[in-house]
Amino acid sequence: MRQIKCLITAGATREYFDPVRFISNPSTGKMGIAIAKACKKSGWETTLVLGAVSAPLPDGIEIVSAISAEDMLRETSARFPACDILIMTAAVSDMRPKVKSAQKVKKENLEMLVEFEQTPDILKTLSKSKNRQILIGFAAETNDIASYAKKKLEEKNLDAIAANNVSRKDAGFASDFNEISLIFRNGETINLERGTKDELAQKLVKILSEKFFS
Ligand code: CTP
Ligand code: CA
Repeated sequence: MRQIKCLITAGATREYFDPVRFISNPSTGKMGIAIAKACKKSGWETTLVLGAVSAPLPDGIEIVSAISAEDMLRETSARFPACDILIMTAAVSDMRPKVKSAQKVKKENLEMLVEFEQTPDILKTLSKSKNRQILIGFAAETNDIASYAKKKLEEKNLDAIAANNVSRKDAGFASDFNEISLIFRNGETINLERGTKDELAQKLVKILSEKFFS
């Protein structure tokens, strides 16, 4: 079989108010980087679209930088038609300031800028042009995890979603550990028990490989 082309997003996007201030979230990018390494190990041609990360970058993997949600949409869209699978682990900021000042805003005037709008939904946008591509989302939830994740699976037209509980202190955001429930369109759920992000990434890629490319 020809080589599988895999596109992975990871890290947090930053939505700038002015040249020195932004809103973002605490994602470190570790899970996505671990998945990229596991994909490469499986022989997949791997491209990593990276927002802000605080984890060591992998060797030998093509990395494309994306700062904002808009950048990530552009860089991902450009590579989507040629890919076989998109794994969207990035913690895309849901909000961005409506206006971005070209100059640094004085603190007494910052309040004037605090009006937000939603960023584009990258998965939803790309799922509209999906043909053979497999789309995998990640759902970060603090409560009603399975039901919110299933809703996202439907709304974003995904093939599977990896749900994780971000309210836990010992797994998830900013941790070296994670615990994932992988939910498929037919309702099948595979629970990947708590382990290091590298361990989970390898299990995840093995499952994706068997389900979608064997
Ligand atoms: N996602 C995306 N574009 C966005 C926001 C999220 O493509 N603007 C992707 C994420 O990378 C993830 C999936 O959608 O793979 C689910 O992200 P999540 O933040 O859990 O869901 P949202 O749809 O943003 O809903 P909410 O944050 O309100 O729960
Ligand atoms: Ca979100």
